[in-house]
Parts: sequence; structure tokens; C-alpha cells
Amino acid sequence: MRLSATQIWQLLLLVVNLKQVVLAQDEPNCGYLKEASFANRSNVVDLNEHPWIARVGYETDRGIAYKCLAILITRQHLLAPAQCFNEVALKAEPVRWVLLGDWNPTNPFVERDCDARQNCNQEPLLMAIDEIIIHPNYDERMLANNLSILKLIQPVTFSNFISPICLHARKTITYSGQYFIYAGFAVDENIGYKLKAVTQLQETMRCRETLMRQNYVRAALAFTVNPLCGNSNQTTPLVSGSPLMGVNVESAKPQSYYLAGLLQTMTNQNNSLIFIRVQPHIEWIEKSTRIETSTLPTIIPAHLVRYEKHSTRIVNAK
Ligand SMILES: *[C@@H]1O[C@H](CO)[C@@H](O)[C@H](O)[C@H]1NC(C)=O
Ligand SMILES: *[C@@H]1O[C@H](CO)[C@@H](O)[C@H](O)[C@H]1NC(C)=O
Ligand SMILES: *[C@@H]1O[C@H](CO)[C@@H](O)[C@H](O)[C@H]1NC(C)=O
Ligand SMILES: *[C@@H]1O[C@H](CO)[C@@H](O)[C@H](O)[C@H]1NC(C)=O
Repeated sequence: MRLSATQIWQLLLLVVNLKQVVLAQDEPNCGYLKEASFANRSNVVDLNEHPWIARVGYETDRGIAYKCLAILITRQHLLAPAQCFNEVALKAEPVRWVLLGDWNPTNPFVERDCDARQNCNQEPLLMAIDEIIIHPNYDERMLANNLSILKLIQPVTFSNFISPICLHARKTITYSGQYFIYAGFAVDENIGYKLKAVTQLQETMRCRETLMRQNYVRAALAFTVNPLCGNSNQTTPLVSGSPLMGVNVESAKPQSYYLAGLLQTMTNQNNSLIFIRVQPHIEWIEKSTRIETSTLPTIIPAHLVRYEKHSTRIVNAK
């Protein structure tokens, strides 16, 4: 087959456009993956493995409590379940902080953590949250769009222990039947390390059953099943917001992690996991992380009004 000059030109344009769509906006060197850690099937996360996992800190009578996780995606933004910022709950226990680079919850958070081989991380970093943007279409009953963006008061400096995950997968993702990795902190804060495991994602009918068993009746009966469900042999429940991750493979080598979901619930019953999907929201995430809310124009464009109305602004603690 011979192509005309115009056809070749059109093909080139198509390739350029595809590239822009696929590779837009991810931080360079996102999704740090070390093959030795990736290959190790132990449940213990290495000190510098999954360095995008941050703990969300709430102010309580007993000091800061960490009840959700958030995932670093840029120098200044993290993703977390929207439900972590329920307005009523926040009145009693306001959210103020994000703790980055932590590994051992039993150790005071301002101290370095060391693993069994006496390798240590740097001191974790406690940063104030400037703003929380709730997904405009967050729907409690359908378990849909349970997603929010946290903006820090200032950008963080990346290190071996603090760096972002990629949002973009290099290939079209298939979920059902595939193995994904998930990691995070245990709900039980006496476990002195971050945990990881694999989960096989369920096809739609099994996911409906899982949702049904956990009393998410509307979500189970919905035309489109929004959450992702999985099983796992790892039975220690992890904190909400723990990341579900896929691996970008290039030249037959695992290269980087991308974010597929955030943990919504994990129960010991049948070891079932429910995750909030992240991939359908990349456009919203990129739009929202680009907008400098502090420098909004005085005449607010119509599409921003909606965005403003639905966002929860939490002024940072100074
Ligand atoms: C795998 O990780 C565990 C826990 O950190 C560690 O004890 C073990 O030595 C690692 N295995 C290899 C082959 O590195
Ligand atoms: C869980 O563990 C059992 C027993 O060790 C094994 O037969 C099964 O295949 C494992 N399932 C998964 C999903 O890893
Ligand atoms: C949203 O996610 C949170 C945290 O994982 C979970 O507790 C809650 O049930 C979810 N709510 C909805 C409506 O999806
Ligand atoms: C566990 O799974 C089995 C079979 O899928 C089901 O019959 C049972 O009700 C489940 N148990 C719980 C506690 O969800």
C-alpha cells in the first residue's frame, strides 16, 4: 500500500496528538519502581517504595489522628477519597495536615524510621493543607466520584522517600481478572511498617455480589458498576485511600507505577476490597490542579462557578 503525502501527514499528526493525550501532565520520573522491591512478595513495603503514600492528619483532643491516606500526584497536590472530608465530621475534627514520607506509625512522626536491616528514611514531612476540592459529581448513594484533591500550602521537594505516582497508563488498562498491587498503612497503628499485597480484580457480576454483601445496594444494582472490587490473601485491613496500582512495562521491563484506584473499604469477610476508580477522572484532576484558585479572575467563567460551589475550602492552619 502506498500513502499519499497528505495521508502520511495526517498519520503523523495523529501520532503526535495521541502522544499528547497519553503523556500529558505526569511529573517526570513519576511512579518510581525499583525492580528488587517490585519482585519481593513480602508484605513489608521497602523504605523508599511507594513514596507517594501520605497520611491525612485530623485534629483531635488527643493530638493528630491519621484516618485516611492521600496520594501525591504533583509537587503540591494529592488525591484522596471525598468521604474523608465529610463536612459534619470535619466540624468535630478538622483536617489540617498531610504527613509525607512516613513508614513506621508506631514511631513518633517527626523521627526517622529504620527497617529490620537498619536502613533509615529521612524525617517525615508534615505539611499544612491549603485547600480541598471535592469532585463536583460526588454521589454518596451510587459510590460514584468519591474523589477529592488536596492542595498543599507550598510545593514539596521530592526525595527518595517523597515522590509522586503517575496518573497515566502507557497502555489501555484491562481490569477484570488482572492482578494489581495495593499498599498503605494498616488501620491497626501497632503495625510498624507500610504494607503491600496483590489483588485480583473481579469481573462485573462478582463485583456486584461483593457490593451487595457489603450493603452497597444502589451501587450493586446500578447500570454501570462504578467501583472496582478485588480479593486478596492479605487480610490486615488498610486505611481508606490506600492506592491501587498498575505497572507500566516497557521493553519487557517494569518501569513505573500508575494510579488505578483508591481503597474505599476493606473487610476481613472473604478478604474483599472495594476501590474508587481514578482513571475516568484524569481530565478533572488535571484541570483542577492547573487552576490557581488564589488568583481566580474577578469575573468567574461559568464553568468555574459550578466548580467553586461544590468545592470545600479549608483554610490552612497558620
Ligand atoms: C524482601 O523484603 C523483606 C521485608 O523487608 C526482607 O526481609 C527480605 O530480605 C527481602 N527479600 C529480598 C530477596 O530482598
Ligand atoms: C491465597 O492463598 C491460598 C493458599 O495459600 C492459595 O491457594 C490461593 O491461590 C491464594 N489466592 C490468591 C488470590 O493469591
Ligand atoms: C467513599 O470513600 C470512603 C473512604 O474510603 C468510604 O468510607 C465511603 O463509604 C465512600 N463513600 C461513598 C459514598 O462512596
Ligand atoms: C463469602 O463468600 C461466600 C461465597 O462467595 C458467600 O456465600 C458468603 O456469604 C460470603 N461471606 C461473607 C461474610 O460475606
